[in-house]
Order: sequence, then structure tokens, then C-alpha cells
Amino acid sequence: MDKNIIIKKAKKVLENNWMGHFTKPSPKLYPHQWSWDSGFIAIGYSHFDLKKAMTELNSLFKGQWKNGMLPHIVFHKPSNDYFPDAKDWEIDLSDEAPGDIQTSGITQPPIHATAVWNIYNNAEDKKDVLQFISNLFTKLLSSHRFLYNFRDVEDKGLVANIHPWETGIDNSPKWDMILKNIAIENINIPPFKRKDINFVSSEERPSDDAYLKFIYLIELFKQCKYDQKKICKESPFLVYDVLFNSILHKANLDLLKIAALLKEDTKEIEGWIERGKKAFEEILWCDKDSMYHSYDQAQHKTIRVHTASCALPIYASIPDKERVFNLKEQLLTTCPFHQENVCVSIPTYDKTQEGYDPANYWRGPIWVNTNWMIYKGLLSYGFEDLAGKIGLNTIRLISELGFWEYFSPTEKRGLGSNNFSWTASLLIDILYKEADYYENWFSGEVSKSI
Ligand code: DGY
Repeated sequence: MDKNIIIKKAKKVLENNWMGHFTKPSPKLYPHQWSWDSGFIAIGYSHFDLKKAMTELNSLFKGQWKNGMLPHIVFHKPSNDYFPDAKDWEIDLSDEAPGDIQTSGITQPPIHATAVWNIYNNAEDKKDVLQFISNLFTKLLSSHRFLYNFRDVEDKGLVANIHPWETGIDNSPKWDMILKNIAIENINIPPFKRKDINFVSSEERPSDDAYLKFIYLIELFKQCKYDQKKICKESPFLVYDVLFNSILHKANLDLLKIAALLKEDTKEIEGWIERGKKAFEEILWCDKDSMYHSYDQAQHKTIRVHTASCALPIYASIPDKERVFNLKEQLLTTCPFHQENVCVSIPTYDKTQEGYDPANYWRGPIWVNTNWMIYKGLLSYGFEDLAGKIGLNTIRLISELGFWEYFSPTEKRGLGSNNFSWTASLLIDILYKEADYYENWFSGEVSKSI
């Protein structure tokens, strides 16, 4: 495979999903603008089209709520292909909704300060992007403030999610028990028809029962008129997720650099970082399993389910180097995430655990964004060997199988939607930034069975 050809193909995927001022995550399955997708997509653009990278984020922030919440979907244009549609969210029940644009009523992992910092770093002429960064800074700050003002429910420095869609990892086995225990009562759920399974086999998507609970939660939030305090009291789903909080912590570190660059006051951000780090240790670190676990805040218990996010604090520079060493060894041995003979990939769920399903969304498949976060984290701690193998495997999967949304950890098979935007943009990031590591592979010197 020629490096330039694969980069060209990746750019084509993004070009085909470009909607004029934002990028849809995939051609059919996700026809609107998704929040964390856009962050990852902007990181890819930052290497070759700064204007698009900035437009992508500016379009997303058009949907920001008055209370600072960055919604997980912005509905810029009508589409018949997706449920729940803009009208199903009824966001005008809340005075905090933006008013002039349709959005969903929940948030998603806050990767955006990290995307902005990448844009700054990758810009050859910094002057070109400084104005954009200074315009976006207060919006970024208020999106983080929203999380601490309304979701740091115990005032401990961790942020709670109220819906599996907020965590980005919708049907992770981490949420099984909570969803199973949700009793549908006192709320009328209007009949609905899923549209996702028009485009992707239902074997690869969340179950109907999970969907029913997803929609139940939305109806509950509508009943609360999107009042965050009320929702946090009433929602049966209230979790401190390791992945969400790791992305937030990393974004705080990047927001701090942006604030320093703009000579803005940094105290508030420093406070979030300090308290967050302590809370990771006190609440999310599990001594028994020697890994990080999400926490069910509604039931006050640790969710001891081994998923790829158990190691994600590596991405946010949370653990010390010795702990990273142990987490990395666990990824390779105790938790058999390691796929022998296929380099190293990080499937989303441990294949020895109950509920593992190699074809179903977040219940086993390999995702490029989780691989990318662990890869970047390992590089930052100097574990280049393992990072290189994860990066190489990501490149190989995509070059051999295509730009899939996720990949089977057991067969050579792409899953979900093809031509998926963040698969393309994160591959571009790896190939622009760390291309030297992979020169040998591209030139055919490394055996295909590393
Ligand atoms: C979906 O529709 O699958 C999304 O993940 C929800 O945001």
C-alpha cells in the first residue's frame, strides 16, 4: 500500500461527507452533525485544510445552548434517514435551548478544546488561526463550565452523564445492568420506528430493548423540561464514565494551554484539572482490578466491567508511568484485548467477559478513536513500541478493509457504516504526524505478520 494513496482515499471520504459547512459522520446512517465526531474530524482537517477544520467547529458551536451545553447532535438540514429527529427532542421546552437552530437535548464527550489545540499546533502560520481561537475560547470555556456547574453532582471534580448516548459508547456492556433495571413507568413513550437498522444489520447495532430505554430517558428529560438539576435527581442513568472524564481531563489540559496562549485567566481551569485528577484516584481507580472503572452515581457503585476505557486515563496523562506500564501489560495479557498475529488492536470489550459480541457496536469491535486515544497516550509516556503496533494495526485494518465505523476483532471484516469520517480523519492524523514510524511498513520491509 502506498501511503499517499491511502491518504488520498481518506481525504475523499471526508470530501464526500462534507455538507458545505460541517461533515456528517457517514453517508447514510448519521446524516447530521455529531459533536464528538466533529472534534475528531477537525483534528484530521487541521493537517491539510485549516479552513474546513475551523468551519467544522464553528458550525457545531452554533448549536450551543445558553447554559453552555454543547449538544450531541446539531440538525442543520432535514433528513428522513435518522431517528430521533429534531422534532422528537422538543428542545423548545427549555428556555436554555438556542432558539434559532435545532439540536438534541444531551451532550457528548468534550474533545473540542483538544481539536482546537491541534488546529493551533498544525497551523503553519499561527496568525491565520489566532482570531478563530480567540473567538471560540469563551464558548469552549462555557461548555466545560456547563459540565462542572450542572453535572459535577457531588462537587468532586467528576462529571456525570445522564444517557448512554452522552458517553459516546451507547451500548457498552458497562451500561447493561443500569438499562436492564430501568422500569418504564409513569411516562408515555410515543410509538417509534428505528431507522438505523435500515442501513446497518441489526446484529451490529444496539438491541431494541436498549433503544426503548434510550427513548424512555429522552421522554423523561422532556418531562423535566431539560432542567439539569431535576434530571440529575430523577435520571436512573447517572454515571461518571471513565472515557468521558478522560476526554474532558485531556481537553482541560489543552484548554489551559489555549488560555495561556490568549493570556486569559487560567485559575478556574487549573482547579478543574487538580480536582479531576484527585477524583480519578478516589472514585474511578479500582485497586482490586488495578484498572479504572466507571461509577454508577445513582446506585453509588463501581461498574466493574472490563472495557477498553479502563485504560483510557493514559490518554489524559492521569496515571504515573509505573501504573501506565501495568495498565499496558494488562491490556496485553490479563485482559485479552490483544489480537495475536494482527499486530495489536484494542477491541472495546474483553472477549472473555459476558455479553462480548465481536460484531456488535461497542460490545467487542475495534474502533479507531479508542485505538487512537490509547495510542496517543502511550506515545506521550514514551511507550513507543506498543503505540507503534497499535498505530500500525490501525493503518493496516483501514488499508486492507476500508474506512469502516468499526472492525471485527476476530475476522477480517469491517462493520457498521463504511466511509466513516473519523476513521478517515484519525488515520490522516497518524499518517501526517507519526509517518516515520510506519515508513518500513509502507516500503514493504516489515513482515505483514508483526
Ligand atoms: C446513534 O444514533 O447511534 C448515535 O450514537 C446516537 O447519538
